[in-house]
Amino acid sequence: MIVTTKELFQQAYGKYAIGAYNINNLEQTMGLFKGNVESKAPFIVQLSKGARSYTHKLMLESMMTTADKIFPDAVFAVHLDHGDEETCMDCIASGVYSSVMIDASHFPIEKNIEITKRVVDAAHAKGIVVEAELGQLKGIEEDVHAAEHVYTKPEEAEYFVKQTGIDSLACAIGTSHGAFKFKGDQKLRFDILEKIQKLLPGFPLVMHGSSSVPQDEVARINAAGGAIKGASGVDASQFLGAAKLGVTKINIDTDGRLVWCRVHREFFRDHPEKFDLRDPGKVFIPEYAKFIAAKNVLLGSAGHVDEVRAALKK
Ligand code: G3H
Ligand code: 13P
Ligand code: ZN
Repeated sequence: MIVTTKELFQQAYGKYAIGAYNINNLEQTMGLFKGNVESKAPFIVQLSKGARSYTHKLMLESMMTTADKIFPDAVFAVHLDHGDEETCMDCIASGVYSSVMIDASHFPIEKNIEITKRVVDAAHAKGIVVEAELGQLKGIEEDVHAAEHVYTKPEEAEYFVKQTGIDSLACAIGTSHGAFKFKGDQKLRFDILEKIQKLLPGFPLVMHGSSSVPQDEVARINAAGGAIKGASGVDASQFLGAAKLGVTKINIDTDGRLVWCRVHREFFRDHPEKFDLRDPGKVFIPEYAKFIAAKNVLLGSAGHVDEVRAALKK
């Protein structure tokens, strides 16, 4: 059942966070749906601009509607991750997405508001909800590069939300995308979340760049021929604390890529004679499902699907 992120956030707020997982292909999609159904978690499928152009946007969109038929117990939102205005409008027109993210965070705040508002007006007219971002994560976000963290300013967040009418806000609190998030200790600015929650009580917040980059996973990749050095991620024991402060959506992409990389490197190391793509795929799909189910336990979303369904009376 495809629902909006708003419907999921209403149930989760203050208690747990919904996992927002990026997918790019069929095997990931199958593993994602299996893992969420097995762990009885509501979830968000994120499709990035890069994913939409990797094969074809229509291929991804039809995978979403087909997965909805194959997995009648799944309760999920279909969300555009880090969209520009043009991509948001395309997704709004598609009839498949229930949620879009407009990321104009690299523009000055008034221009960010102007662009975001145009997307909100178009999306809300069709019952689609909107996430936007204020502040910037260090590193690369789609096509934009920020040399340093630009932390979200709480007073600006209140102004931005009121001016734009968005449904959720991505905040920059010290995480970054990819496998190399921290040099030394991780310093997440939960004080920023706390201030925003005071100014905007009940308003759903989003944490990007939240992969944990498990060191055992990195070690297995390197032992099987990889060369990933100095990788580090967000301590998953922070997730529930963030949820209490209003974070209802936690974005995870990199950790899933690591699972893919580990499975395939180990598979071909151990089976050099094999060449059928389905052979590693048969290992990857259940491994990915296991990874998703374990993540949902850490996010607190596991086991909540029945109550979400009941609340939506669908
Ligand atoms: O925030 C970025 C996501 O991890 C998506 O990455 O643009 O390479 O698909 P991508
Ligand atoms: P990670 O790179 O930490 O998985 O973050 C993903 C993300 O924020 C997608 O929008
Ligand atoms: Zn992101």
